[in-house]
Amino acid sequence: MRFVLDQLLDSAVLIQLRQSLLSSEAQWRPGQETAGWHARHVKHNRQLERSHPLHQRLAAQVNAALEAHPLFQAAALPVRIHGLLFSRSGPGEGYGRHVDNAFMAGGRADLSFTLFLSDPHAYEGGSLLLEAPAGEEAVRLAAGSAIIYPSTLLHRVEPVQSGDRLAAVGWVQSRVRDADHRELLFDLDTARRHLFERQGNREPFDLISRSYTNLLRRWGD
Ligand code: NI
Repeated sequence: MRFVLDQLLDSAVLIQLRQSLLSSEAQWRPGQETAGWHARHVKHNRQLERSHPLHQRLAAQVNAALEAHPLFQAAALPVRIHGLLFSRSGPGEGYGRHVDNAFMAGGRADLSFTLFLSDPHAYEGGSLLLEAPAGEEAVRLAAGSAIIYPSTLLHRVEPVQSGDRLAAVGWVQSRVRDADHRELLFDLDTARRHLFERQGNREPFDLISRSYTNLLRRWGD
């Protein structure tokens, strides 16, 4: 299951974040430095120097926005968000077809996310293309919105044709590693919340809540 967090960042935070990324304080490094050995040949972008205090400050803002988002909590069941990096792609730059590593320094990658930071009109090309059995899905969101998708998918970023594409990407270790299990849990959780809103904790709520909780106990690690 993939899901979109609309306006994860409000416009004031977004504008300030983008200004910081485009300021002279920002140091950009070749993206290949953090790619796995197989993805290194296809990764052609730049990313913000991770050891710089600017990175830490901006990454903390993105992580906090994710942590506070109810849909993110319910659908991703996060243990930790890790590996966040800010990427920048100009004309001719992109990221060829690859799958994200299963394990990274920060933990297991169960879910991947891309937070779009540039206005879609500020660049051409640069769609995130996710491969699914039904075909390739192109994702190109409003600035401040994010897509979260299973890290099991092959994906790529098509080359930017003009302008500047800024994004933040990162990974989530989930309590539930299996994407199908997460989806079932999310449906049950959504259903029990609707019931609770309408009726409080009556019999149907209690039973669905019990199923949700016991499946989480069984599938979670
Ligand atoms: Ni990737």
